[in-house]
Amino acid sequence: MSDASTSAVLRPVAGPILELRDLTKRFRARRMGKTYTITAVNRISLDVVRGEVLGIVGESGCGKTTVGRMILGLEKADEGEIRFGGTDLIERRGAALKAARLKLRMVFQDPYASLNPRRSVEDSVAETGDIHRIFDNAKVRKEMVGEALTQVGLNPSFASRYPHELSGGQRQRVGIARAILPTPDVIIADEPVSALDVSIQAQVLNLLADLKSRLGLTMMFISHDLGVVAKISDRVAVLYMGHVVEIGDGPALFADPQHPYTQVLIAAVPRIDPASRVTGTLERGEPPSRFRALEGCPFQDRCPKRTDICSTMPELLPTTPGRRVACHHVGGAAVAG
Ligand SMILES: Nc1ncnc2c1ncn2[C@@H]1O[C@H](COP(=O)(O)OP(=O)(O)OP(=O)(O)O)[C@@H](O)[C@H]1O
Ligand SMILES: [Mg+2]
Repeated sequence: MSDASTSAVLRPVAGPILELRDLTKRFRARRMGKTYTITAVNRISLDVVRGEVLGIVGESGCGKTTVGRMILGLEKADEGEIRFGGTDLIERRGAALKAARLKLRMVFQDPYASLNPRRSVEDSVAETGDIHRIFDNAKVRKEMVGEALTQVGLNPSFASRYPHELSGGQRQRVGIARAILPTPDVIIADEPVSALDVSIQAQVLNLLADLKSRLGLTMMFISHDLGVVAKISDRVAVLYMGHVVEIGDGPALFADPQHPYTQVLIAAVPRIDPASRVTGTLERGEPPSRFRALEGCPFQDRCPKRTDICSTMPELLPTTPGRRVACHHVGGAAVAG
């Protein structure tokens, strides 16, 4: 066996830190005078392993942000459990909930919108610490903010600046500094580089990867951009219309996508599709309307492999090592079907 104390720095220590079980969120929406229910997140179950970056990928509207917001308590789940540190977050109240808020933090997509233009960088970075009264005095506060800024590659003198004095990349570094003071266990990063120039994206991704290993963080990295997800994720969950359709180790999943949806998604991004056996294109340009209740596999309308069995819902089942796929035509599921 390898030495656990050294390998822990390099790769995830076994065991989930965050467990989602049958997580479901419905929204009521009105369209053309009628009220509809949209199941934004539909019985999602997945584990986030301590020390890993779990990428969450899928097209616009598939439910990525809603998953993140439920974990952070910004959206209330209709059904299911979010287990963090062994107990259900949804059931936590008072001090236990407050403690979880310190350990689970978010980096947002838009560093313009997420920073208050009238607050100095110091006040923004110190916000969570202020709420939880972790600073003994102003000197300690300033020192800790300075340390957080250094961690994200900014000079501590940035503390006295205001958002309008910063570039987009600097602003997102401030957004990350806010999320690491005090150091959390898990960061949920929702499209953290989507608003940035491509040249800046790589720097911010490198910073996140670096912080992850330096601070021993676990990260859920949400993005519609497969190229970005491929760069940073240890494992990847592919969402389609509120469902996890495939989950597995990042490099293996990108080299050998098994769900027909993952295959066409990856085929549409040539730069990460060197050796995969992907063929076919999306049958239609857009996912089916979220206003229509769908029986069976959510991807059947666009799927090149569709047969009658697809009108029943496929389970997310193991296929190759480390991989689970929800398709009647893949691996164990095909045998069962
Ligand atoms: N507050 C809300 N009220 C009503 N519908 C909502 C609300 N929030 C999200 N939805 C709907 O839920 C579905 C999932 O939305 P969500 O924002 O989670 O998707 P996403 O995968 O993050 O998309 P994007 O890539 O565009 O950010 C969408 O159909 C969306 O319109
Ligand atoms: Mg989103």
